[in-house]
Amino acid sequence: MLTPTEIGKRAHEVMARCRELAACTETPGSICRTFLSPPMRDCHRKIATWIEAAGGKVTIDAVGNLRGLYPAGRNQGPRLLIGSHLDSVPNAGAYDGVLGVMIAVALLENFRGQDLPFVIEVLGFSEEEGVRFGAPFIGSLALAGRLDDQLLSLRDADGISVRRAIEAFGLDPAAIPHAELSTDALAYLEFHIEQGPVLESLNFPLAAVEAIVGQTRTEFVFRGQASHAGTTPMHLRKDALAAAAEWIGAVEHAAKSDPALVATVGKVEAIPGAANVIAGEARATLDLRHKSDDIRQSTVHDLIQTAQHIAGRRGLGLQTRPLLEQPAVQMDSGLIREIDAAIRSTGCQPHRMVSGAGHDAMILAGKVPSAMIFLRTPAGISHHPSETVDVDDVAKAIECGSHLLHRLARSSQFRDRMSRA
Ligand code: GLV
Ligand code: MN
Ligand code: MN
Repeated sequence: MLTPTEIGKRAHEVMARCRELAACTETPGSICRTFLSPPMRDCHRKIATWIEAAGGKVTIDAVGNLRGLYPAGRNQGPRLLIGSHLDSVPNAGAYDGVLGVMIAVALLENFRGQDLPFVIEVLGFSEEEGVRFGAPFIGSLALAGRLDDQLLSLRDADGISVRRAIEAFGLDPAAIPHAELSTDALAYLEFHIEQGPVLESLNFPLAAVEAIVGQTRTEFVFRGQASHAGTTPMHLRKDALAAAAEWIGAVEHAAKSDPALVATVGKVEAIPGAANVIAGEARATLDLRHKSDDIRQSTVHDLIQTAQHIAGRRGLGLQTRPLLEQPAVQMDSGLIREIDAAIRSTGCQPHRMVSGAGHDAMILAGKVPSAMIFLRTPAGISHHPSETVDVDDVAKAIECGSHLLHRLARSSQFRDRMSRA
């Protein structure tokens, strides 16, 4: 094990690397790095340098996921996957996703020269946020073998399909099946900031995630009649944006009826979008989450009916387009127990919690035992430039990760899996 001073040094380096990667952005002055955007290439280059210096080998798979194998010479054999995502929301913080990848790299650096009974594969997923194409998890879905034609045909704001974006980045969509995990994958671990205030309120630096809530994303398109804002009397309008606004109020009202429910309309577009034109079309995205899949699905159903009712009353058309239907996912109980023990080894009290945010772990969990470790998030702020993390908590996470890898290397359950991989 590393000394506390060495761990502290690594933690500072992890933070510095996250800040360095923040400069790989589409929007100078703020952080925005979407799926296969040009700055993602610089981001890959920097991370590859660090992994290769630690004795790993980096490739980029067919959907742009960074995959670092350590040790470099061992492409075969049971592998432990550790990672998170490299894309960001617009005007993001520097730690959502990237921190988990940098902690994975730090863990790999810790093991320099040491013999582990498994290969470590560092994963930097190309897409988790769903910003460019509206649908999240493109990177991890490829590893789970669940990237279908419908997803590959989605188009971004410039009309470019996922398939075309992959080609434009110099990758080959025909090679997507090779990105899928094979039976030699033992488990997936993801370190991630909590992105909420719970750990801070409890004064705990780390927690094991026991489940991730399910989420639905759907696009609602209200179609009315664009017309002149000065000459069309109010009672003769078919204002698509006014209909969307009425519905958005109903979404908020529905979500407030259940403390475990969250619903967000985070993106609205008025077409044609001019001050003196009544919107002929309004597009709005619904993101709705609950730990119960039944409640989530029935609430989405009710909100579609509400939108139909509002549109019908105003003489408008309504179209809905499903973007994501992701059930709630339990993390692997054996891994959670190991994480509890690893947290205890750092001198901290183990804690378990449910994640309201979506993570690549919820996609990989369908394919391979998966678990997550949350780091306390100061002020609970995330998806915002002020998002941060304490360097001491990063040190605890690195220490916890080292204990965890040693524990997994020794665990009989894991050895059993390795012999079958
Ligand atoms: C990812 O950040 C999410 O939307 O939960
Ligand atoms: Mn995020
Ligand atoms: Mn994230």
